[in-house]
Parts: sequence; C-alpha cells; structure tokens
Amino acid sequence: MYTLHINDLTQQEFLSQYWQKKPLLIKGGFKSFEDPLEPDELAGLAMEEGIESRIVTNHDGWQCTNGPFEDFSPLSNENATLLVQAVDHWHPDAAQLLEPFRFIPNWRIDDLMVSYSTVGGGVGPHLDQYDVFIIQGLGKRHWRVGNVDKSIQQFSANKGLLQVGQFDAVIDVILEPGDILYIPPSAPHEGYATEAAMNYSVGFRAPNQTDLLSAFADHLIDHDLGQSRYTDASLTLRDSCGQLQQNEIEHLRALVTDAINDDDVFLRFIAEHISAPKHDKDLLPLDDEIDESSVSNYLHNYPYLYKAGGLRCIYIEQDESVMLGVEGHSFNMPIMHLTAVQALCDQPQVQTPLILEHTHCLLFRQMMATLIREGFWFID
Ligand code: SIN
Ligand code: CO
Repeated sequence: MYTLHINDLTQQEFLSQYWQKKPLLIKGGFKSFEDPLEPDELAGLAMEEGIESRIVTNHDGWQCTNGPFEDFSPLSNENATLLVQAVDHWHPDAAQLLEPFRFIPNWRIDDLMVSYSTVGGGVGPHLDQYDVFIIQGLGKRHWRVGNVDKSIQQFSANKGLLQVGQFDAVIDVILEPGDILYIPPSAPHEGYATEAAMNYSVGFRAPNQTDLLSAFADHLIDHDLGQSRYTDASLTLRDSCGQLQQNEIEHLRALVTDAINDDDVFLRFIAEHISAPKHDKDLLPLDDEIDESSVSNYLHNYPYLYKAGGLRCIYIEQDESVMLGVEGHSFNMPIMHLTAVQALCDQPQVQTPLILEHTHCLLFRQMMATLIREGFWFID
C-alpha cells in the first residue's frame, strides 16, 4: 500500500494549481518508500517478447536499442538506462504504485514505465506529450525541469529518441527514494542518475483529433455504419457550375457530425476505443467452460473477483442503461446493474455477493460469463 502526500496540498488543490499547468516537486511524496521490484526483475521483464523495452546510452552520442534483450551488455556501468513499458500489466506489486493516483480518472492513466539507470544514465533533455509523475525509487537522480513551453522544438538525437535543446529549469533537484516529480505535457526535463537508480513513471494519455477520427472511421467500417449519403433533391439552377456552395459545404459537414452525434453509435465507439488495450497483458482465459447458466454457481465459491493487471475498463451512465467498455469490447446493460458495473470499474477487487445480487438477469449473467471466460476478471 502506497500513501501519497502531495506536499501540503489537497488532491483538488493539486488539480487546480498544477495539473496540466506547471511542474511540481513532491518531496517525500511516499514516506519510507520501498521499491516494488528489483533491477534484476526488471531485466527479466525486458527479456520477454510481448513487453516493450529499450536501453538508452550516452557515450559518444545517444544510442537507443530496442528489446527484448538476451544480452544486457549495452547496459554499461555508466551512462545507460533500461526502460520497460507497462510493467503494471505484468507485476502486481508494481501495479500498486498506480493506486494512489486514482484521484485522476482511470481512463486517463496509461501505464507504469519503470527505468533502471547506471551512474550518469538518462534519456537526455526531452518533453513528453502526456502528463507524468516520476517517482524516485532506489538510488538518486539529478533532475532539471522547465516550465511548459509549447513552442519548444524537438529533434531526433537518434532513431526513436526525440530530444530538445537547452532549457531553463524551474526545478533543479536531486531526487531521493520516495520523492516525486509531476511533469505536465510539453515541459522539458532531463534526469541523470548520480548513483544506480530506479524510477517509476506513472504515465497518462489524452487522445488527439486524428486518433479519434481515424478510430471512429474504422469503427464505422467494421460495423457497416455511416452509410447515409449526400442528397440534393431540392437542387436549383446556378450561375457557376464550378462552385461548391456554402450550403453544400454545411450539408457535407453535417453528414460527418450527424454520425458523431448519433449517441447509439458514438457511445459504443468511445466505450470500445477508450478501453482498447495498448500493450499485451497477462490475461489467463479460462479453460473451464463457463456460461450464463454456470456463472452464478462458479462465483458462489469465492469471496472476491479480481481485475486483471492493467485492465482497461470504463463505464458510461445513461438514463436507462449503463455501457461497460472493457479491452475494446462493449456491453450495454439495464441501469439497474449500475452499482455492479461501477464496482467492477472502480475497484481492483469486488466482493462476489455484490455481483451475485445481479445474476437474476440473463443479460448480466451473459456479460459476467464473458468477462470471466476472457480472464478480464478472475477468482483466486
Ligand atoms: C526515465 O525514467 O529515465 C525516463 C522518464 C522520463 O523522463 O520520461
Ligand atoms: Co520524460
């Protein structure tokens, strides 16, 4: 269990004053911090096929080598960093580090990236597109952080390694175990280990228009939707046949916005898209056949149902229904199941009696059977 102290700020004060606005040093954010994993365990994860990892070095210039690794010789005794993405998906103790940040909605949290640096190791001066909390574990690291600067130019120091030039620091500090930096998007930063160091980055995500529109178009294609076509039964003669008139432009624009404004279509899309997985995860689909007729008996035997590590799930409350989005799937349930769906999404583990209260309904039993069969929620 990690308890977060954001200096003497309340969570709401942090959100109002710093979130997405300016960087913050949170000295002693976690008291008596204990690393949830050892450097060797991190190296073990970086050997796995489905896990994204890289080693960044700065000897004569910057070098970036992508994993998986069989040989850790690039991780030299100086000026080297091993970085592993989505460690929360694979390591339940490391995943605990995300919990204190749940005062920010789950869907905004991306993953826990963990790095191990040898003395002098870092990824160079750069900025990120997303908010991040960087937690200092083992060792110490010297960090400099600048204010948000949307005009700052990025350049490629090496394939896959974007950096920025010199910047003025508003935070210049040696982080010790349990210290945390909050860094908003577009704030330049750089950190170099002063002794072998572990860092934990709680990363966030925020889709842009291109992500959303291209995914929405894919959704329409996959479900054979969006077939309304331009019509002009009231066409009249005009002087210029070459002109595309303003009213025609508005009509074309409306074809696009009507598709987006159709709640039946857009809510299902957004539930599936926002919950879609980005990285592989440690899901164990059930070998046992489980369906709507057996799911209640199955659950009766166990006190808790656990959410799989890194599972992406959200719910959308409507007047008469609640939509659950999980790992790119969606389930539309009558609103009477709101408490169960909310508990599944909000909590890492749910008491099974709370679920069993809802299994009188066939739709709900079908959904639960699918969620358990796929390994999204599991019993222990
Ligand atoms: C790191 O842990 O070395 C990288 C963290 C970051 O600056 O994004
Ligand atoms: Co960064």
